[in-house]
Amino acid sequence: MTETILVLDAGTTSTRAMLFALDGTVRKSASRPITQHYPRPGWVEHDAAEIWALTLECLREVAADNAEIAAIGITNQRETVVAWDTGTGKPLARAIVWQDRRTAALCEELKAAGHEAEVQAQTGLLLDPYFSATKMRWMLDNEPAVRSAADTGTLAFGTVESWLVFKLSGGIQGGAHITDASNASRTLLLPLAGAGFDNGLCDLFGVPHGTLPQVTDNHGALATSGAEITGRKIPITGLAGDQQAATIGQACLTPGESKSTYGTGAFVLTNMGSEVPRSDHRLLGTVLMQQDGTRTYALEGSMFVAGSLVQWLRDTLGLIDKSAETEALARSVDDSGGVTIVPALAGLGAPHWRSDARGVIAGLSFASGKAEIARAALESMAHQTYDLAAAFAADGASWEILKIDGGMSANDWMAQDIADVLGVPVERPADVETTALGAAMLAAVGAGLFDDLATAADAMRGKVTRFDPDMTAAVREERLARYHKALGAA
Ligand code: G3P
Repeated sequence: MTETILVLDAGTTSTRAMLFALDGTVRKSASRPITQHYPRPGWVEHDAAEIWALTLECLREVAADNAEIAAIGITNQRETVVAWDTGTGKPLARAIVWQDRRTAALCEELKAAGHEAEVQAQTGLLLDPYFSATKMRWMLDNEPAVRSAADTGTLAFGTVESWLVFKLSGGIQGGAHITDASNASRTLLLPLAGAGFDNGLCDLFGVPHGTLPQVTDNHGALATSGAEITGRKIPITGLAGDQQAATIGQACLTPGESKSTYGTGAFVLTNMGSEVPRSDHRLLGTVLMQQDGTRTYALEGSMFVAGSLVQWLRDTLGLIDKSAETEALARSVDDSGGVTIVPALAGLGAPHWRSDARGVIAGLSFASGKAEIARAALESMAHQTYDLAAAFAADGASWEILKIDGGMSANDWMAQDIADVLGVPVERPADVETTALGAAMLAAVGAGLFDDLATAADAMRGKVTRFDPDMTAAVREERLARYHKALGAA
């Protein structure tokens, strides 16, 4: 019998279950969309009970015959906060999603009080609503059920992997309350150099330490699924935030290697080795992974809007029927006819960090049609990535090659355009679902099926396609000048 790894990939717009063979091929997969709740402008919520129910549906679909499953790996949208009651096993409020900007005023207050430099030095993060701590604080201040559970000692906070592990490992019958170091490093509560959540940071954000999970390695014997859930007990041996998992899935295992994942948002991570990274250019320092208590770090640039821009063109504007149409539309014209998009629909992430920024479509004329707008949308991915490349270079982490992945990277036109605008080669794996592969690699190593991640990468990663830069400096400069001008209006 061939062993497989069951991966649960709980993303922002969908949740999935996939069965990986040890050669990295996907035997089965199932996926369900997650309902997005937008109760007010700038607010984004998920129902954690729905995430669990749909994850379970996917799991049961792919793992009906579970005999060959050796281990479970979990990867997830990061920063999103779930609050649940350890007595009932139920969520106490809607989960506040990473894209949610409701805590912008609290972040500004903390900045005005002079806390950002110290917080950045400890956690590698900035005071932005993106991260978990101010979302936890908001729930405590505004959701009576969360506050009263905190008072009675039954409140558990966690990011999505933490919630799924709790439910999978038995829920109210002794379910584990853990989080891996990569997810923990996105909360604002974990010092990059400290083993666990920090009391001083918990006090600063007003989050009771006792409501937080235990911080673990990214692979090993982390928890065990309940037989009532998976038919028999299966060890959970890999956990990682989706961007760290993609970095591992792209085998960025040595310092300097970089990947960019174009999913709902787009996230660039460069492996920085074992030294705690410091950014002077508004990038984030983050935990890439923790193995046997030892950490590897990354510098990260987070773009809040990538595939969600194309989704918006499709679902809100009705400009296209399918996301994949953007490729043919972009190729159907020689250029965007001067149309420039700044995709700040959820504010701007790195390196600008402007919660108040809003999207811009500039340069419209009567000659501008669907093709020009679709092309400008795709071009904006290369432009955003270029700004990050400049920040990484200024922080001493230039990219020699950029490995790309994520659903949107399947677009050949966009992949070539990124190589052209960056002026560096871009590499893309045949299977762009690198996030799930990274979780499978972690779980396989954690279950002892491979000695280490490098061996797992050799066995599980497939072929790559390379895109070499081919754009004149004049075209690149014109494009970037237009983008930077439009950025001024965002
Ligand atoms: O930090 C947010 C990130 O983890 C979300 O990833 O793939 O759902 O866009 P994704």
